[in-house]
Amino acid sequence: MTKQLLRDAQGEDAMVALGQQLGAAVAASAGGLVIFLQGNLGMGKTTLIRGVIRYFGHTGTVKSPTYTLVEPYRFDQCPVNHFDLYRLGHPEELEFLGIRDYFDGNAVNLIEWPDKGKGLLPLADLTISITGEGPQRQLQFDANTVVAQAILQTMKSAEVACD
Ligand SMILES: Nc1ncnc2c1ncn2[C@@H]1O[C@H](COP(=O)(O)OP(=O)(O)O)[C@@H](O)[C@H]1O
Ligand SMILES: [Mg+2]
Repeated sequence: MTKQLLRDAQGEDAMVALGQQLGAAVAASAGGLVIFLQGNLGMGKTTLIRGVIRYFGHTGTVKSPTYTLVEPYRFDQCPVNHFDLYRLGHPEELEFLGIRDYFDGNAVNLIEWPDKGKGLLPLADLTISITGEGPQRQLQFDANTVVAQAILQTMKSAEVACD
């Protein structure tokens, strides 16, 4: 099973495409999921998430929910929740959001700036760290659970199939 996956993405379109691959692998795995996205402002966290949400069938825009903190999307397959905790003053504010409800059941939770919610967020199944400059981005996917390992395995297999 794959515990770590490294990928490059040059430009926004490549990042959205990678997000769609992640979406396909996530959709193929059963059950609820928590994914942390690490990386500075402008690294492409929201862009990657846009790809995931597009894969599930959303055709409109996907913007970081900077002020509302969470944007829930309803799909037939499962709910997908996009968090951006950049403006969270204190982790306890998450209680007012009814945070626990989001993590119940089979929802896929994608969380930007998870450090801001430390102590009140569940552990991540998958952590994605993005670095880079100019149009170049490097992504490191770290699987912390068996479910996430299977997701990375699916992404790896898809990559081999495309060669
Ligand atoms: N390879 C790339 N992947 C993602 N975004 C890129 C890339 N190259 C340039 N960009 C630009 O960087 C910005 C990323 O923004 P965004 O996804 O909102 O980042 P974040 O959510 O991490 O703050 C966009 O303006 C996008 O056009
Ligand atoms: Mg963002």
